Amino acid sequence: MMGSMMVVSVSNAEPIAAEPILRVRDLCTYFPVRAGGEVHAVEHVSFEVARGSAFGLVGESGCGKSTLARTILRLIPATSGAVEFDGQPVFDLSAGALRGVRRKMQIVFQDPVSSLNPRMTIEQIVGEALSVHRLVANRAERRRRVAGLLARVGLGADDIDRYPHEFSGGQRQRIGIARALALEPELIVCDEPVSALDVSIQSQILNLLADLQDELHLSYLFIAHDLAVVRHFCDEVAVMYLGRIVEQAPAKTLFDSPRHPYTQALLAAATRPDPNAPPPRAVLAGEPPNPADPPPGCAFHPRCAYATERCRRERPALARTGAGGPRHVVACWAAEDACDSDVGAGRGAAQSADGLNLA
Ligand SMILES: Nc1ncnc2c1ncn2[C@@H]1O[C@H](COP(=O)(O)OP(=O)(O)O)[C@@H](O)[C@H]1O
Ligand code: SF4
Ligand SMILES: [Mg+2]
Repeated sequence: MMGSMMVVSVSNAEPIAAEPILRVRDLCTYFPVRAGGEVHAVEHVSFEVARGSAFGLVGESGCGKSTLARTILRLIPATSGAVEFDGQPVFDLSAGALRGVRRKMQIVFQDPVSSLNPRMTIEQIVGEALSVHRLVANRAERRRRVAGLLARVGLGADDIDRYPHEFSGGQRQRIGIARALALEPELIVCDEPVSALDVSIQSQILNLLADLQDELHLSYLFIAHDLAVVRHFCDEVAVMYLGRIVEQAPAKTLFDSPRHPYTQALLAAATRPDPNAPPPRAVLAGEPPNPADPPPGCAFHPRCAYATERCRRERPALARTGAGGPRHVVACWAAEDACDSDVGAGRGAAQSADGLNLA
């Protein structure tokens, strides 16, 4: 049965041809908890972001997405593992070299309200990094650069002296994007940049990010809890559950042939064509387990209708699936069976989702 599954140890999927902009290897981030023990927020995560691409990271709240993003940026310490940005080992860099890498690797946060200092003007917020990195000679030059950045994200030149509270949620996120662009980064980590926005505003911000990607040859690590958001935006998508990647594939493959029951359930929930229609028959039941006390075996087993005795005992490793091509990896015993018995293609979201726990 294992014959058609290749267990992939270091990087989940087939390495990408050109040198990736970001390479994450076997990354773990644990937090000590007061009662004793630790929360394993990020567990042995490996992936690569191809230069100029958008890599999506999706999963329910609490699965470790923000911790992963912050660990990559060295904003919180990794427990183990490695990150390479543009071939440089981020965790081994001296403070000076890290400053250089930080310029090239920026972050846009989920909440544009709390991430913008209410007492600073837009000029100060967007231009701060230019001054810190001594990239402008004087105030006039800084104003000119900030005005250019505001124009680039669709804000007006007269917005420059205003304060964050004077803007709508979508406009505030544009300010956050302008701030991220100030140092001319190569990679932007977007941590749920549209989750706090109305659906109509979400697409405007996604369009802006897509335009900027084309104009500036940016790469994105794009985090979302909603699969629908990454569908058209990302080239490759990884699905996270309780700190681990459980499925990863080129976006089209993941959406056309999801193999992990968790991905299938997320997809069933994300593809309701009419918001007024009744909820899908199969939705994710229950809450994710406590990451400080994860279930044995496959962490998804308490919520999975396919779970067998083996799932409760043994954790499936990420492995290539026969049907999905070399860049499609899944951590699920049932995906292996489906692949081997050649019914994988028939296990699309709608059919398989029926097998999940019904709410
Ligand atoms: N500073 C911290 N100390 C302890 N636990 C934390 C800390 N930050 C995050 N966690 C825990 O790590 C897990 C992952 O959190 P997070 O990365 O914020 O998830 P997500 O961004 O996917 O919602 C959660 O269980 C969260 O409670
Ligand atoms: S390994 Fe078992 S419990 Fe885990 S997702 Fe697959 S079928 Fe469900
Ligand atoms: Mg988060």
